Amino acid sequence: MIVVGLAASPMVSASSADDAMSQLNAIMADDAKRQASYEAGHERIRFCGYCHGEDGNSKREYIPNLAAQHPLYLFNQFEKFRDGTR
Ligand code: HEC
Repeated sequence: MIVVGLAASPMVSASSADDAMSQLNAIMADDAKRQASYEAGHERIRFCGYCHGEDGNSKREYIPNLAAQHPLYLFNQFEKFRDGTR
């Protein structure tokens, strides 16, 4: 599994990282939003969980665990997948 400290990641610009974290914090602080977010994520678990494990712990050596990774690190990876840099 790849472990990257956020402070050491040059791909996270301060503003997009701040935006992502403040959005996440706002969702997590609000019971209704958090619940809605879990439910929305649940639909996707079947697809992502097939490889990454239903609880985010992969059972295959070559597929990284997503559980317990820093949300900003994951956010940054999604951005990289989207723009093709990863
Ligand atoms: C077919 C199997 C498969 C499926 C389905 C899949 N992934 Fe992955 N995922 C991988 C593999 C293999 C890697 C490692 C690729 C690499 O290192 O470039 C990876 C890497 C990642 C990473 C980077 C993890 C890290 O430690 O850097 C993230 C985040 C991720 N996947 C999220 C998702 C999400 C979210 C979904 C569902 C929308 C998903 N994956 C579906 C196989 C899969």
